[in-house]
Amino acid sequence: MSLSTPSLQPVVRISGVSKRFGSAVVLRDLWLDILPGTFTGLVGINGAGKTTLIKCLLDFCSLDTGKIEIFGLPHHSHKSRFRLSFLPERFTPPHFLSGREFVRTMLGISGLAYEEMVTRSMFNDLGLHQSALDKPVRSFSKGMTQKLGLAACLLSQRDFFLLDEPMTGLDPAARVRVKNLLGSLKAKGKTLLFTSHSLADIEEICDHMVVLHGGGIAFSGTPRDLRNKFEEPTLELAFLRCIGTDG
Ligand SMILES: Nc1ncnc2c1ncn2[C@@H]1O[C@H](COP(=O)(O)OP(=O)(O)OP(=O)(O)O)[C@@H](O)[C@H]1O
Ligand SMILES: [Mg+2]
Repeated sequence: MSLSTPSLQPVVRISGVSKRFGSAVVLRDLWLDILPGTFTGLVGINGAGKTTLIKCLLDFCSLDTGKIEIFGLPHHSHKSRFRLSFLPERFTPPHFLSGREFVRTMLGISGLAYEEMVTRSMFNDLGLHQSALDKPVRSFSKGMTQKLGLAACLLSQRDFFLLDEPMTGLDPAARVRVKNLLGSLKAKGKTLLFTSHSLADIEEICDHMVVLHGGGIAFSGTPRDLRNKFEEPTLELAFLRCIGTDG
């Protein structure tokens, strides 16, 4: 009998992934595991390839080389996405639906029943006014729309949350609310991979961060490790050193 602890199956395993658009290489031979229960922040300058990596993961675009597994299944198998909830970078719900209809539709896709009280409570937690349940989403402000997307994601009861710039358009109060909600996901052992340009958020939320730069992974480790590596007092300065610029 072996006494060794079995190694955890990664939620995501990215093995040797490369992606180019025409002659432009965006991702170059990436290797990365996302372990269960971890909160990983994917950071990088505009155009670094964060959204492209997410699109590759979701099989929205083909890989040039390598493979991706989600919960041990090939990423192109639709079953690999059964336990995943995704919020896109530019979230635009169908304009003719009301807030309630949108949430009901999204829960239906996940095979879940719509529950009015649970949805009202989530709207409350996100600071989204209850009247948004009845209003058409075309009348929502940018931040309200973002909160609606987050509400649908967080109500999905999935195990892995993949959020591309989830804090976009949120006011400071809403950012605090979202961070609290993410904190409860962490307590439930859920896994999070998200992109953000706010290194303060990364430092606050993540136990792991990945810096994407020049098509490759310039750093992978804890935010504290990045600061220590470059002996900088802030994550922002360490990030700039990591990508070889001072701003
Ligand atoms: N469908 C596409 N066709 C051609 N080039 C693309 C396509 N999608 C992305 N790119 C290019 O790939 C590069 C990476 O884009 P991507 O959207 O992944 O960056 P990002 O890191 O998410 O940036 P941001 O922080 O601005 O969201 C950019 O140079 C972009 O122009
Ligand atoms: Mg992006």
